[in-house]
Amino acid sequence: MIKNKKMNNTFTQTVGALLLALASSTPGIAWSASAASATVPNAQLIRQGEYLARAGDCIACHTAGTKGQPFAGGLGMETPIGKVYSTNITPDKKAGIGDWSFADFDKLMRTGVTKHGYTVYPAMPYPSYSRLSEADMQALYAYFMHGVKADPTPNKAADIPWPLSMRFPLTIWRWAFAPTPQPYKTPATGDAQLLRGAYLVQGLGHCGACHTARGVGMQEKSLTDAGNTTFLAGGGVIDGWSVPSLRNEHGGGLARWSAAEIAEFLKTGRNSHTASFGAMNDVVAHSMQHMTDGDLAAMAKYLKSLPPSNPATPAFVADDKLGKQLFSGIVSSTGAQLYLDRCAGCHRSDGKGYDKAFPALAGNAVLQTNDPTSAINIVLSGGAVPATRTAPSALTMAPYADIFNDEQTAQVVTFIQTSWGNRGTPVTAAQVAKVRKVSVPVAASQTEATFAAGRHGTFPPMARKPHLKDAPQK
Ligand code: HEC
Ligand code: HEC
Ligand code: HEC
Repeated sequence: MIKNKKMNNTFTQTVGALLLALASSTPGIAWSASAASATVPNAQLIRQGEYLARAGDCIACHTAGTKGQPFAGGLGMETPIGKVYSTNITPDKKAGIGDWSFADFDKLMRTGVTKHGYTVYPAMPYPSYSRLSEADMQALYAYFMHGVKADPTPNKAADIPWPLSMRFPLTIWRWAFAPTPQPYKTPATGDAQLLRGAYLVQGLGHCGACHTARGVGMQEKSLTDAGNTTFLAGGGVIDGWSVPSLRNEHGGGLARWSAAEIAEFLKTGRNSHTASFGAMNDVVAHSMQHMTDGDLAAMAKYLKSLPPSNPATPAFVADDKLGKQLFSGIVSSTGAQLYLDRCAGCHRSDGKGYDKAFPALAGNAVLQTNDPTSAINIVLSGGAVPATRTAPSALTMAPYADIFNDEQTAQVVTFIQTSWGNRGTPVTAAQVAKVRKVSVPVAASQTEATFAAGRHGTFPPMARKPHLKDAPQK
């Protein structure tokens, strides 16, 4: 069920194979003396850069949790070969990127090759950022040089044992899998709103880093929608949460959502279909809630334009019979009984929940596929909707890990996966046991504090150890 495990192994094997196949060499360090431009760009350009940095969610990865200085790096990310730390990207000349020229910055953002000549770990989503327009790259650079406070925190070396720590296999990875950067051209024709949406989703938003499946070398199977239906058709599992399809499809996709509902979800972390959880909380809190309504509408319109990858999957058809039975106390299974006792207070016996407070479970995309990972995990770990500027209440669901054993969890999750017309598959105790191993109860207070501080990290696509000290550990 945890597909990520498999991918991680594949990645290790691939890197290992590359190591065996190739002679060793450390990349030459070429220090360039060119410094950031001496003239300060106008305030408008810096503000535009700040907005773009939000769209790219740079802060989530380049800040060490709630205590770290913004953009000073040091957030540890677990990868299959060891821990990688994000770097200091403040304009400090020694610790950060203060002495990087625009050309240095542009090259890193488009090709992953640093000023010092080596390729960064693909944790940095440069294959997506390579799609930025020249003008936007200039604005981003202006912001990092002049809008961010310089911080002297030195970079941490990755905890990756030799020989996997050698960076040259990453150059091979880049040759094999990363696309050749193409200078962005505004298409001459087409719906301007749709093009804007595609630009943000495929580029800065790097939605595909999580929502597109990965191939053998950990590369995203597609970076745009051109000529394929794998783009945004669902990724693997990140931190115990499965990443759903964002295509206009049934069975886990966005077919039942209107464009307005997609925009509402991105802005507030909730809508009448669902509430955000897992890594998506970070995306909403740090990045999407700060986008303009116009940009959110454009992204939503673009997502609605993506044809289904699985056109044969039938639509959800609501079945009200069961809700009525439950309401009048007719209980047909242990799962139904557990649901009535523990869940119906918030999600209601008809599974319709309370709009924008307690998400509906009937018809919920989380419960329409054969991958129950998220459904199991939210019952074990609980959840908290991210508090956002326009929807500040961080409503929570308590963790049931200590209340239900694996069998009971399986029964209640089977019940919600298969009731009210839901098309999810039944769940076994063995599946629950697997998810329990990676489950980390979501403490409401901690989540609120985290989002109040406005930053905390994510790392697609490999699992990340919880780095919040006060998260209760199992
Ligand atoms: C998903 C996590 C993630 C996101 C999002 C992210 N980065 Fe990175 N970035 C990293 C990691 C990890 C590294 C270091 C990789 C390594 O050491 O090989 C890195 C490296 C860099 C570097 C190279 C710095 C150096 O000193 O070598 C720059 C510059 C950079 N990122 C800029 C950005 C900008 C600008 C954004 C937002 C538009 C951004 N990053 C978003 C993870 C991320
Ligand atoms: C760091 C990984 C990550 C990134 C990057 C990411 N997402 Fe997500 N997303 C998730 C996870 C995990 C979920 C499942 C949890 C949930 O539904 O809230 C999710 C869920 C969603 C959902 C809800 C789907 C449903 O059926 O309930 C939408 C819509 C969404 N993401 C849109 C986006 C968009 C648009 C972007 C790019 C701007 C994006 N995501 C980037 C991890 C990510
Ligand atoms: C106190 C009210 C409350 C109770 C009781 C409760 N939940 Fe929840 N539930 C929520 C809230 C709030 C969320 C959104 C959490 C988030 O976004 O992280 C949620 C989310 C979910 C989700 C994910 C749906 C989505 O789209 O976000 C599932 C599945 C779920 N609950 C199942 C259950 C089950 C099964 C039970 C009983 C064992 C239960 N809940 C009990 C409040 C509750």
